[in-house]
Amino acid sequence: MKILITAGPTYEKIDPVRFIGNYSTGKMGFALAETCAERGFDVLLIAGVVHLQTQHANIQRIDIESAAQMYEAVMQHFTDCDAAIFCAAVADFTPETVYSQKVKRKDNDLIIKLKPTQDIAAAAGKLKRENQFIAGFALESNDEESNALGKMQRKNFDMIVLNSLNDSGAGFGYDTNKVTILHRSGNKKTLPLMSKKEVAEKSVDEILA
Ligand code: C5P
Repeated sequence: MKILITAGPTYEKIDPVRFIGNYSTGKMGFALAETCAERGFDVLLIAGVVHLQTQHANIQRIDIESAAQMYEAVMQHFTDCDAAIFCAAVADFTPETVYSQKVKRKDNDLIIKLKPTQDIAAAAGKLKRENQFIAGFALESNDEESNALGKMQRKNFDMIVLNSLNDSGAGFGYDTNKVTILHRSGNKKTLPLMSKKEVAEKSVDEILA
């Protein structure tokens, strides 16, 4: 079994020294990669800029920076995989033009026009075959469950792991997470606060169930 996992943030270049990013550390995605490798999967981990190392020999890692690069890597490898977990915090917008020189300080405002990025998970969802399984993540601040269910539908996921921004100890940067796992079948599992490694174990249990 081969599984593709996306993890970490994307960096969207403004000029040679600046970017638009986010606070994702990649911890959840890397924990999923370790867990899948321990369970005997061949793991292809497509990672944004993170300060984490992979331990297991069954993990092949592709490092990327931007949403466009992550999209290319996923499109290149998704059809060869039996399953995928989209855990990356992908930028929704990227600068329309990248300055070739460092932007100089001036007294007037600087306006950077952004254009939408590709939805990588949704693109994979469109290509998904009958025998492929896709799981996604959702980080929500309000109407958590109905938003997550809508995302699962739109992106053609089989399962979605919902994190709420309202739970303390959960989300970006923490070593712990509190999630609810929702299945396309309607099954639902609400888990207590636990380490990201434990959340990874439970999520992989649900994928294999
Ligand atoms: O729509 P939203 O960003 O909340 O969806 C979250 C899910 O979609 C996550 O699984 C995330 O990895 C994935 N995603 C993606 N490409 C994007 C945006 C989100 O793969 N451009």
